[in-house]
Amino acid sequence: MTEGREQFSSRLGFILAATGSAVGIGNLVGFPVAATKGGGGAFLLLYAMFVVFICIPVMMAELSLGRRTQKDPIGAYLKEAGAGSPWRIAGLLSVITPFMIAVFYMVITVWIFGYFIEIVSGNLDTLAKPETFNVFINSNKVFVYLVIVAVFLNVILLSGVKNGIERAAKIMMPALFLLLLGLVIFVLTLDNAILGLRYYLIPDFSKVDAVVVNSALSQAFFSLSLGMGILITYGSYVDRGESLAANAKLVAMADSAVAFFAGLMILPAIFALNPKANTEDLTDSSVGMMFSYLPKIFMALESSVGYVGASVVAAIFFLLVFFAAITSLVSITEVPTSSFIDTLGLSRKKALIWLVSVMGLLTVACIVSFGMVDGLTAFVEYGNMKKSFFDVVVDIFYDTILPLNGLLICLFARYRWKNSLDDELGRGDNGYEGSFTKRYVDISLATLIPIILLLVFINTVAQKYFAFTIIG
Ligand code: PFF
Repeated sequence: MTEGREQFSSRLGFILAATGSAVGIGNLVGFPVAATKGGGGAFLLLYAMFVVFICIPVMMAELSLGRRTQKDPIGAYLKEAGAGSPWRIAGLLSVITPFMIAVFYMVITVWIFGYFIEIVSGNLDTLAKPETFNVFINSNKVFVYLVIVAVFLNVILLSGVKNGIERAAKIMMPALFLLLLGLVIFVLTLDNAILGLRYYLIPDFSKVDAVVVNSALSQAFFSLSLGMGILITYGSYVDRGESLAANAKLVAMADSAVAFFAGLMILPAIFALNPKANTEDLTDSSVGMMFSYLPKIFMALESSVGYVGASVVAAIFFLLVFFAAITSLVSITEVPTSSFIDTLGLSRKKALIWLVSVMGLLTVACIVSFGMVDGLTAFVEYGNMKKSFFDVVVDIFYDTILPLNGLLICLFARYRWKNSLDDELGRGDNGYEGSFTKRYVDISLATLIPIILLLVFINTVAQKYFAFTIIG
């Protein structure tokens, strides 16, 4: 399949598509929640350090492997390591992980879309009631929203790399930036917004402990779509004349900028409506923030801008998050799609039919695991906790295997594949040889980064499955 492999049409096309993948629910909601808990500016500093010193090198390794081999992750590891090599397991994990993460991400995207439709239909007041979320996720409407989102996603993916993925990103990403900017400006004009800004930006180092450090790293890793095979796959669509290091830095910058702006939107909004808000008030999870806390905040805007005004602001917010989520879903679904195309020799259409069917079934299993089907709601018990099917997917693939995949790509790139890595990163980048970036990538991928990722992996396994806390 090397011949005639599709490519992004331009550097901008790749940057927007990769940023579309990176910018997601993690940036718009997960980041502000984590920053609030993690000491505001102190968390921001930690986060920036992790992006620069850990995530960008991993990103460069993933992009190189894809561009070098012109293959999906399974084919990429296989081609470079040889058919009998145990490294093929790393390739397999790089396809199974995104497949399963796509399943749980799809569920949340469907809820986001549902909330958007409800708000546009005039139901913001209902969404602002505490009991609504639970009723909503267990209603049959969710299946209708699932079908609509699945069709939308597949129309984009069916059109291929240039006409589907790249075009969707070229429309949705600028729209997302504009909507976000508009909301930030609006929120900053509200009374007491400055309190939220202070809370967000002034560092409180007393809040930084091992848990916060771990959450900043996981957040950065997830936000940049690492460990999911996405950048290997997108790397295979990048032109050889482009500098991968420069592209990785640009995508990381754009992604971090959106996360930073999301904080500028959410925290001032919260403090404008509740000047005495504190971390205990703010919910722990992105899901709680998005579907329970924020609708209340939007509803409270009624007193200043009226019900319609409040609904417009809420609708813009959910549309914004929907655009972010769908471009991320596109990228993650493209990984197994490209694997089906490359490895099984299927056409794009057939690959998608297979994927939609299997993914659809698993997504439905997740949707009904919030109370509709008992056996999937109380699915298993481990680490002293009862877990639903949805929880299990999140625990295994998002929390556990993601850092493992990152660890494997570092070890592979640096110990098994060093010359090719150097050669690939030097293509389209005359200044790479002898640069500080090269020296740093060489050393960190071999030592610092795999050690940190290994620690995160061991800690997660101990905590999640054996209720044994090493850190935190
Ligand atoms: N970077 C995405 C985010 O921050 O939400 C991570 C992601 C998740 C990408 C799920 C793709 C995906 F399907």
